[in-house]
Amino acid sequence: MPITAAPNEKGWLIETPGSLYAIGLDATGLPAQRYWGPSLPSDDWGQLLRGDTSPWRSDTSRPEEVQQEVLADGGVRWGVPGLQVVFPGGNQSLELRFVDARIDNEAAGQSTLVLSLADSLFAFSVHLHYRVRADSDVIERWMELESGEDAEGDVVLLRGDSANWFIDEADDYWYSSVNGHWGGETQLERGPLPVGDLTFSSRTGTTSHAANPWIMVHPQHATEEAGVIRTVSLGWSGSWHLTAQRRPEGGVSVTTGFGHEGVRLVLESGRRHVTPPSYGLATDGGFGETSRKWHAFAVRHLRPAVDELRPVLYNSWEATEFDVSEAQQMRLADKAAAIGAELFVLDDGWFGARTDDRRGLGDWHPNPDRFPNGLQPLADHVRGLGMGFGLWVEPEMVNPDSDLYRAHPDWVLHFEGRTRHEARNQLVLNFARDDVKQWALAWLDDLVSTYRLDFIKWDMNRSFTQAGWPENARDHGSLWLGHTRAVYDIMATLRERHPFLRIESCSGGGGRVDFGMMQVIDQFWTSDNTDALDRQTIQHGFSQLYPAITMCNWVTDSPNPITARVVPLQYRFHVAMAGALAIGGDLDSWSDAELDEAAEQVALYKEIREVIQLGALHRLGGRPGAGLTAVQYVRENSVVVLSYEPRRSLERGARRTVLRRLDPAAFYVDQRTGRRFSGAYLMQRGLVLHDELNTHPGNGSLRFSNRDYLSALTRLTRS
Ligand code: GLA
Repeated sequence: MPITAAPNEKGWLIETPGSLYAIGLDATGLPAQRYWGPSLPSDDWGQLLRGDTSPWRSDTSRPEEVQQEVLADGGVRWGVPGLQVVFPGGNQSLELRFVDARIDNEAAGQSTLVLSLADSLFAFSVHLHYRVRADSDVIERWMELESGEDAEGDVVLLRGDSANWFIDEADDYWYSSVNGHWGGETQLERGPLPVGDLTFSSRTGTTSHAANPWIMVHPQHATEEAGVIRTVSLGWSGSWHLTAQRRPEGGVSVTTGFGHEGVRLVLESGRRHVTPPSYGLATDGGFGETSRKWHAFAVRHLRPAVDELRPVLYNSWEATEFDVSEAQQMRLADKAAAIGAELFVLDDGWFGARTDDRRGLGDWHPNPDRFPNGLQPLADHVRGLGMGFGLWVEPEMVNPDSDLYRAHPDWVLHFEGRTRHEARNQLVLNFARDDVKQWALAWLDDLVSTYRLDFIKWDMNRSFTQAGWPENARDHGSLWLGHTRAVYDIMATLRERHPFLRIESCSGGGGRVDFGMMQVIDQFWTSDNTDALDRQTIQHGFSQLYPAITMCNWVTDSPNPITARVVPLQYRFHVAMAGALAIGGDLDSWSDAELDEAAEQVALYKEIREVIQLGALHRLGGRPGAGLTAVQYVRENSVVVLSYEPRRSLERGARRTVLRRLDPAAFYVDQRTGRRFSGAYLMQRGLVLHDELNTHPGNGSLRFSNRDYLSALTRLTRS
């Protein structure tokens, strides 16, 4: 049984294949965490639930409070609260007591524990949920808040976090997280976890470029291969916060939830609020093992199309930007098909008066000057070439210069009498309004049906500001929740109605990448920055939690349109192959030799994509984009290694990359050279990348040996 109750019902144990989570009732009678870490023998479980006897402490601090499963604001506490409410009449002090527990081990492959608590004075209950799957160490938690039928008025929710995760005392805690900006998302950062409160958050109404809702807490010297790593993440695509509180007396807790400061929800009597899920994972095999476990969980349990591989898509945005026409798109489609693309995506500029970013957003019908016969001829042409057809949309936005805005100026987020500030010349539609949501669903449904769209790239280019909802002034805050939920709902409904439809989540690049969005989409647009060198660090950060199959990477032109960096085509391909390979260059400007090379690379990728998209990832050392690095993927008997050396050092001799987690006793054959290596050799001695780099087809011969931007793709098959 994955979830068990202690004999006296005063404790619960959640067992996953490689970890254990123990909850007991503390001295105040509330559920508190007793252990979260690698598996322990059941002989020790009784020990865990008894807890430690706290030594005498002064009345000035309460370090044990952060161990509680819900950090309810009330009673004696001074830590960061996870649940804060205002009851009718203004009472702001929660006093929860434990009511009962329910364990459901019945559901196919998953088990759930529900701990119910109730306030001692008001009709208000809190249900803590824990769900585990038989094949994963990830624990999914969320909270359900219930204002009773007999509550005398509204309960205002100031903060309702999804979960609090406690991490036991240790001297050398460090943290890992990612941060970034437009064109430079998911930059991995590691550092000492300071004593105090470390908060990451988004106030943009999206997951954001600046931060991503997860943190890892680990020993300073944890590596890709070793160390106990605990990760906490949040499955939410709107504003969020995550606070790691490291107590001066020891112990760390991570509390995370939707919304940010000042976003409050009104809970009418008889209503429930279910928080987004927070996911926690404790592993004992370093960052590599942690990432592989997150990837496996995401692929098996979060992504909607579990067993499907991503096609190679071509997107014409960088080729044409807003200047699109039927003939030019057909020409690009011909070239894309010739190099092996399987899906053709027409980006911005096809609709309304959208000839630049100042107008037309919101008017979702083909521009008659550009597509006089609608999009059907292009769709037919693309399909005739054997490719799927996809379109770019940005449903949540409107340009003030649009028919939609002229007809419905009240549909945007705004406060009466206040300026409606624009960003990228656009305003945000309030998807929390049911009429707006139904309008979006209707035109999207119609668009997908009309062209039988295989794919939409759903973009979201503008953060929320002045987020008011005058018709619902009593509960403005609910738009932060309602908007994101409406986006999820529309995507899920479209998928249900059109089972062939696949969706890409884009938000000015990677501004909406998270485990919430992952449940309704197939891939993320990782970054608008397609420069291969910059992409290496972006992809490295992305890969910490999110699987390669969801990471869309385009090969684009050189010099790169954003950074002007000149990078050889093969290197650009090898970087983009580390996820869902796509092409985004101006194929009209590529030479025949480049198009031929592209066709070869695309064909090669199709042979290895299953290993990359669904295999186990091993990051093989080094600083991505700075020196020699490699990524290895293993799936059944196939191994693929992508190696990169952006800058050569003349004085360094042959450099080796040792592979990971192969069978030492098995033999592996290099598919290109026919050379045979034992797993032990590959893991101890490694591949000599100089040999590989100097003789690899696209690299020519030794005369390139001192060139920058060398890269190689090695395929090994277990014999
Ligand atoms: C955003 C996206 C780009 C492109 C443009 C179109 O910037 O991230 O990929 O779709 O919008 O306007």
